[in-house]
Amino acid sequence: MTEAWWPEDDDKDRPLPSSVKVRVPAKINLHLGVGPLRRDGYHELHTVYHAISLYDEVTARRGDTLTLTMEGVGAGSLALDDSNLIIKAARALAESAKVPAHARLHLRKSIPLAGGLAGGSADAAATLIACDALWGTGYSREDLARIAATLGSDVPFLIHGGTALGTGRGEAVSPVLARAYTWHWVVAIADGGLSTPEVYRELDRLRLGADAPSAAGSPDALFTALRQRDPAVLAPTLGNDLQPAALSLRPALAETLDAGTKAGALAALVSGSGPTCVFLARDPGHAAEVAAAVEAAQVCRTVQVAHGPVVGARVI
Ligand code: C5P
Repeated sequence: MTEAWWPEDDDKDRPLPSSVKVRVPAKINLHLGVGPLRRDGYHELHTVYHAISLYDEVTARRGDTLTLTMEGVGAGSLALDDSNLIIKAARALAESAKVPAHARLHLRKSIPLAGGLAGGSADAAATLIACDALWGTGYSREDLARIAATLGSDVPFLIHGGTALGTGRGEAVSPVLARAYTWHWVVAIADGGLSTPEVYRELDRLRLGADAPSAAGSPDALFTALRQRDPAVLAPTLGNDLQPAALSLRPALAETLDAGTKAGALAALVSGSGPTCVFLARDPGHAAEVAAAVEAAQVCRTVQVAHGPVVGARVI
């Protein structure tokens, strides 16, 4: 059996709702191969995205203007003005659909800020799905993914979810077809974030040196391992070219990775541009054991267990 990746379009004949709540997952990268810096300032990527069960929620209600409020992780520090990707997403959709950008948006945040889990991108994806339903724009997920690509490289993936190959700057997403299987992860969330552009710049700098970090190469071994549904086979195929750069900017992450390995995780790697670290476990019981040991090592702010793949932004 193959997993159902691309969902059915929502029923377009339903009356417009007064309120829409959307749940959206975080992502990790099972493989993050970073190519050369392009002329537009982005790097060419070969990445395998994987949506995991840590979620934010965006609720869109009818309103006379566009407003954003929030609760949870980052409340009080995250800007809620026009610089927020949620507001940009709502405006981009309204402009494309030629409808007024009127909504009262509320974010319930659990995914850490600047953590390498694409939390901001997830919120933008959730906003597109929520406002599409609130305004009855009737866009397909592919239409929304096209708008998503204008908001950030990771946003189209979070519309779709699952496990998917990302190429270009990461915005060109195609599903990875594999037999249904749930992978179990431990997520170690650091204090503070890392700036994605800075991590990419650090990688460029490291690559100029004599001891340039080796590249993650092709994701072919990972694709084969995903089909085998065996965590011990998947473990050695996980790789992230941004990891040496994240470690260079935040050397203490080596202790976090080490704590996961000592705790018996099958694999330990930095998620995206970091500083979140993820550990692969055999099963839910093993994930709980690894999480407890990493927590006891006091090498990060908080530890959570998660599974994947899960679906992308969905109305709940
Ligand atoms: O696309 P997004 O806005 O999420 O990217 C944030 C930053 O990360 C970019 O401005 C760029 O510095 C870096 N980036 C990159 N290559 C990519 C994706 C992101 O250099 N493929």
